[in-house]
Amino acid sequence: MRPYIICHMITSLDGSILPDQWHSTAEVSVDAMIERHYDHCADSFKAQGWIVGRETMSHYVPGVADESVSDEKGFIAAQWREDNLKPANGKPLAIAFDPKGRLRPETAELDGEHLVLVLGAQAPTYAIEHLQRAGVSYLFAGQQGDDVLQALEKISAFYGVERLLLQGGAITNGHFLRAGAIDEISTLVCPALDGATTFKGIFQSTDSESQTTVAAPLNTHFLGYSILEDGVIWSKYRLTAAR
Ligand SMILES: NC(=O)c1ccc[n+]([C@@H]2O[C@H](COP(=O)([O-])OP(=O)(O)OC[C@H]3O[C@@H](n4cnc5c(N)ncnc54)[C@H](OP(=O)(O)O)[C@@H]3O)[C@@H](O)[C@H]2O)c1
Repeated sequence: MRPYIICHMITSLDGSILPDQWHSTAEVSVDAMIERHYDHCADSFKAQGWIVGRETMSHYVPGVADESVSDEKGFIAAQWREDNLKPANGKPLAIAFDPKGRLRPETAELDGEHLVLVLGAQAPTYAIEHLQRAGVSYLFAGQQGDDVLQALEKISAFYGVERLLLQGGAITNGHFLRAGAIDEISTLVCPALDGATTFKGIFQSTDSESQTTVAAPLNTHFLGYSILEDGVIWSKYRLTAAR
């Protein structure tokens, strides 16, 4: 059993998830809008943790290593790649998909939350040794670290969590969408515009992923909306497999 996954994201009017690029003529700044609404709405879901991709987590966890897919020691016996999950002792989970083992957290916690890294078996040995020294929980989700369902099942089995937030970025959300691992989408649309060519939307797939791995057909059921302060519109949809 995997946990119920709510993808919670904040966007501009033109659908960008990159607030650094937004322009707004609203009375409050983009930062103030995000600070006022994003976490507050996220808390309303009463989830037991949140999930992000390596790029997004690098804003919170210091020491992102250079992209380094392998070292010689990195390809020793596959059985050495054992999960190393530690009890969360009731703390919420802060989960990052880091397939190449590029994050270098120094402690097992992030602002009082229990950090869990989802790695690929491709992650180099020195990265895993670092996590062991820092006492950080990690698990493996296939060679490329892209087996979303396996990762969620392991997390659910060990931590007993039933509800998690998926909070970007676009690449990670895209992996979850193609895996059929999103149950609900919650979007906060802000009165701001991006308009740049480096625009990213809520979900991203490469051309080959789009061609070879078509997202499972989904039905979207409208759950409701709220108009928040600052002209921010919060909408929620349930996703189910199309019959
Ligand atoms: N507006 C919002 O609500 C919101 C929320 C979150 C983030 N953001 C923004 O989004 C931007 C980052 O988004 P992003 O799409 O570039 O990055 P991302 O999804 O945060 O991270 C992408 C990276 O995560 C790893 N990854 C995650 N899942 C994987 C999987 N299943 N298989 C393989 N690799 C996987 C890969 O790491 P490697 O590259 O190491 O292989 C991939 O390149 C940031 O600017 C952030 O501020 C916005």
